[in-house]
Amino acid sequence: MQHMLGILGLALGTSAWVSATAQVPDTMYAYREAIVKLAPGLVSKDLFMAADQERPMKEGLERLDALMSGLKKHERLQGLGFKIPAKQLQENSHAAVTAFAKGQKDLSWMHLRALVHGCNQCHTQVSGTQAPPWHLTQDRLPKGSFALAETWYLFRDYSRAMEFYLSVISQYGLASITLDELRVSLEKVLAMTLRIDRSPQKAHEIFSSIQKADLIPLDIKTEIGLWLDELSRLKKMTLPTSETSSAKSVDEFSDQVLRQVYPVMQHPGSRKASAYLASGVLLEFVNSHEKAVLPRILYWLGVSLRETDDTLFSSSSTYYLAECIRRFPKDPVAKVCYSELSQYHQEQDTGSLGLFSSDLSSELVRLKKLLDAAVDKRPQKR
Ligand code: HEC
Repeated sequence: MQHMLGILGLALGTSAWVSATAQVPDTMYAYREAIVKLAPGLVSKDLFMAADQERPMKEGLERLDALMSGLKKHERLQGLGFKIPAKQLQENSHAAVTAFAKGQKDLSWMHLRALVHGCNQCHTQVSGTQAPPWHLTQDRLPKGSFALAETWYLFRDYSRAMEFYLSVISQYGLASITLDELRVSLEKVLAMTLRIDRSPQKAHEIFSSIQKADLIPLDIKTEIGLWLDELSRLKKMTLPTSETSSAKSVDEFSDQVLRQVYPVMQHPGSRKASAYLASGVLLEFVNSHEKAVLPRILYWLGVSLRETDDTLFSSSSTYYLAECIRRFPKDPVAKVCYSELSQYHQEQDTGSLGLFSSDLSSELVRLKKLLDAAVDKRPQKR
């Protein structure tokens, strides 16, 4: 444990991408207040549904929903990568309130979880900054390391979140930590070190030390081993920075990272680390340079988000693939985006929960027309 926390100090160094003038949108503080009301029920469905929590849960949901219009106002929230989580958040908060009012607390909780995913999808697009320490009154804090980790993660206090996720990992097998909590914690650590901090080096250090822990199950150690192989490769690469790099260098970087693992893996292994790292770089780029975006940037964003998204709630990957076709119908990459998208659609039909699965079938028909029209207009050689 000591050892892991030592590494933690290293892992949260500041990133070169932090913009000194960037302001936290006001509405975030209001969200935080509303979420504090919901905190006990955030991780535990039983607490969310408990009779004595009826009032705070109802009020928390309603307050959040009332605040949603604030998402549109702030100039920092206009980036391409923020649009989808913002929309998801609005849909989910509305649905959560409606279901709760009808007494469908199970469904309401599902929407609350999806909503939290929306918050995190935005937050992990901003690298490096650290929230000032903030004190929650103890009685409103959820109990247990895992619930605390998830709460701090949601509030963008990544150093505290890291501390608690690492403690969940080190307590596995000793305290009542479930296998699922262990898996989620490992993945969050990967997300924080790669998508947010963009440091394969630190991820490598942390996971090397976790891999040595006695109580981690063997199959998980094997998986971590695959991440470590990937991280050894990623450590050697030079990362582009959003402020100084051109679209071309961001495009080439992501191609170099992801081409190794997608669609075919060059070495048997994992593609998660590559996808977290590349998606972090790409998201920051599209948020700050929307007009300079290239077709392959949208393609790789779609692919890398698909690889890292919580599959229950994912939809942002399809958004970028569709955007690739809409913006660049004449580009050869548009066709690749299209075939990727139709493949996702086929997979989605089997198994997805169907929460807000937007009408992808009719969208595909529209996109195909766009592609065909672009081909027709190309000058014909006779
Ligand atoms: C549309 C994108 C977006 C969505 C959706 C979003 N946020 Fe944020 N949030 C941001 C950005 C951008 C920041 C500022 C990050 C920075 O630069 O530190 C932020 C910062 C925060 C902070 C940190 C404030 C601080 O002290 O630094 C909290 C807390 C927060 N958000 C809560 C929430 C919660 C809870 C939700 C979901 C109900 C949410 N946010 C949804 C974009 C978003």
